[in-house]
Amino acid sequence: MKSEKILVTSALPYANGPLHLGHLAGAYIPADVYVRYQRLKGSDVLFVCGSDEHGVPITIRADREKMTPQAVVDRYHAAMKKTFERLGVKFDNYSRTSLPLHHKISQDIFLRLNEKGFINEQTVRQYYCAACRRFLPDRYIEGECPHCHSLGARGDQCEACGRWLEPEQLIQPKCKICGSTPELRDTKHWYFRLSAFQEQLEKWQASRPEWKSNVREFCSGWFREGLTDRPITRDIDWGIPVPLPDAEGKVLYVWFDAPIGYISSSVEWAQNQGTPDRWRDYWCDEKTRLVHFIGKDNIVFHAIVWPAVLMAHGEFIIPAEIPANEFLNIEGQKISTSRNWAVWADDYLEVFPPDPLRYYLQANAPENKDADFTWKDFQARYNGDLADVLGNLINRCLSFVEKNFENKVPPAGELTDADREALGAIEKAVAVIGGALDEFQVRRAVGELMDLARAGNKYFNDAAPWAAMKTDRSRAATILNTTIQLEAALSLLMEPFLPFSAEKLRKMLNIPEDYAANGWSGIAGFRLSDNHPLGKREILFSKIEDAIIEEQIAKLGK
Ligand code: 2FM
Ligand code: ZN
Repeated sequence: MKSEKILVTSALPYANGPLHLGHLAGAYIPADVYVRYQRLKGSDVLFVCGSDEHGVPITIRADREKMTPQAVVDRYHAAMKKTFERLGVKFDNYSRTSLPLHHKISQDIFLRLNEKGFINEQTVRQYYCAACRRFLPDRYIEGECPHCHSLGARGDQCEACGRWLEPEQLIQPKCKICGSTPELRDTKHWYFRLSAFQEQLEKWQASRPEWKSNVREFCSGWFREGLTDRPITRDIDWGIPVPLPDAEGKVLYVWFDAPIGYISSSVEWAQNQGTPDRWRDYWCDEKTRLVHFIGKDNIVFHAIVWPAVLMAHGEFIIPAEIPANEFLNIEGQKISTSRNWAVWADDYLEVFPPDPLRYYLQANAPENKDADFTWKDFQARYNGDLADVLGNLINRCLSFVEKNFENKVPPAGELTDADREALGAIEKAVAVIGGALDEFQVRRAVGELMDLARAGNKYFNDAAPWAAMKTDRSRAATILNTTIQLEAALSLLMEPFLPFSAEKLRKMLNIPEDYAANGWSGIAGFRLSDNHPLGKREILFSKIEDAIIEEQIAKLGK
């Protein structure tokens, strides 16, 4: 069978601060699990991401830190790239939108849309701060939300109730920089004719009934209200210049150029490979499945505006799947970076290895509703699942083999029903985990992985090789052989979820490098032969003590 071609993207994070667990749980860990699984399956996958380096989120940070926007993005781009690497989130390319390559591609796409008549110029009235002598787009303006009446709603969205806003809707608007009341002034902008795509978008979405309900429901709401044309330019001095002669001082709206970052990251990847046109194999081939992993706040852009831009452009594929995750709260409260109510990935990595966090964010993934991260629950899940179930199974079995069978796989004799059942559990797990991941259900998939480890523990306890050893060494050998086959399968099935521990376990079992030669389904039949020499045993997961958890809790909100 010819392998499937899949282009996977994770939302480009703004380069305006370090990564926290909310980012990771939504668009990055699930995507990495999916991609690692697809690679094991033998799919032809390209996985791209990069830093989102334009827009008001960057300039506001630069104003606050008294730095240039370029210095801000340089700092956080480098930091985020490193953090992803430390967490094992393995992009084929991690790019950045301040690159000239990205500017050129974005401008070309803008021009093509303009030539095709999908962009209109309009003069509109927008808030202007006379004191700061500037227009106040998006987050530069704050006021009272017209829907929920909370204060501090931004010109583009109210964070309290989540509604999208236009700046003119704000009650008592104020300049975010100096606090004065702005006035309305005329300014010229370019609008993307989104309204022209309503029918095409609705038809396309109707053909994707398997999409998650959060994406479908969100879009139906927008369709019901009727799509309107959207401004895709801004009056700020940081961004991609609008490539038209009469557009001085205007830049492309960050949400116009950011998704184009998926394309430019692919182009950069192809160039770095020495095959500059290879990105077209993905972007310009109808057979490629384009999968966008995002958080729920990005749904409108990925399921409506961006697909319409792609439709208008006409040369590229449109998304096939948009697995959008809900939000992760911390200790029962919404993440707030300004209050430091967040767990920063780098702070976590100072204390713990990456896999426990990967595991917790998978087992507790905000797939269908918001999820809560609590340090105590993290500790309980880690100690209870990874240390007590998975780690313990491996350690008990391998230490027994080390002591009694010269650290070689004991030869299997005749199998009992219990042995066959244990081996049968591998086959079932391979199918069920694969099926869940094909449907982006990471939480269910990792649960099945742990169930296989639980089944292994139960088998090992019931079969009691230590008792058999006293009377029937060959029966003990068969039990240990069966358990090791189960552990070998676990080491392969763990790869997408816990890549660092999986590698360690493969070393302990001395599994050859070509372990994936028979694809994901081949894992069901993977066996280590009798007397296969094992590697050096290590503790895979040591327990996390209370004191260290208390220290982490104390950091919150400080
Ligand atoms: O919400 C965000 O963090 C945006 N920077 C996501 C951009 S996703 C894509 F379009 F690049
Ligand atoms: Zn002002």
